[in-house]
Amino acid sequence: MIITVAHQKGGTGKSTLATNISGMLGATMLDLDKQHSSALWNHVRSMDDELESLEINVLKGSGDILPTSKSLSDEEIKLLCQKYKKNPNQVIVIDTAGFDAGINRLAIIMADMVITPVAPSQIELFGLQTFEQIIKEANRSLKCTIPCYVVLNSVVESSKLHLENVLEWIKGKDTFRLLNARLGRRVDFQRAYEEGMTVVEYNHRNRAAKEMSALVAEIMVELIHEEQIGA
Ligand SMILES: Nc1ncnc2c1ncn2[C@@H]1O[C@H](COP(=O)(O)OP(=O)(O)O)[C@@H](O)[C@H]1O
Ligand SMILES: [Mg+2]
Repeated sequence: MIITVAHQKGGTGKSTLATNISGMLGATMLDLDKQHSSALWNHVRSMDDELESLEINVLKGSGDILPTSKSLSDEEIKLLCQKYKKNPNQVIVIDTAGFDAGINRLAIIMADMVITPVAPSQIELFGLQTFEQIIKEANRSLKCTIPCYVVLNSVVESSKLHLENVLEWIKGKDTFRLLNARLGRRVDFQRAYEEGMTVVEYNHRNRAAKEMSALVAEIMVELIHEEQIGA
């Protein structure tokens, strides 16, 4: 099964989600962003004997390749996606870049589940409206509806009004489904990343860990549902 974390807007939390989801599932990763945020996180991880590093693939020609990453051509990436697509025995998590590009669209089209992090703010809502067009085009070309799940990320108490606006907007859309789990704006997400850890490995008692665990559990339920539809 393929979980693609995607949004054409940068800084919404894609790499934060992708690293935590794959770290918690022990899943292989594909990092399509030239910034290699996920690959760097995994490299830090590999230096800690107590952490199990993941198998991580990056795009050939996307800058310096870390010894802990494997670089793949576009063709090899297509084959990798075909291997995981609708495969109930294996999960791959794809981290994509914060802009619109052919390779990111491929990751969306191949996904069994797209996860899109969005913060509750007006600028993020504009970003999501642009992303909706990308998903609609992908749906049209595939002649089906790609299961695209929005996750509210970086939620703070003061964002209540914007939160309602975003919820209201999503409610009227058949392009997006909303996940119940939400992630607060918490320093643990940044600290865990710096240590090459998931938030659960960083401190399983903290709220960030509990929120991420709830999110991964919900994703797994939806993934099993998608798998059954495809069977
Ligand atoms: N829930 C959160 N709480 C606090 N900081 C967050 C949260 N989600 C993301 N961040 C921070 O926001 C920045 C951008 O996140 P990142 O995952 O790199 O976004 P993207 O991959 O979409 O560009 C990073 O510094 C990350 O640590
Ligand atoms: Mg990123």
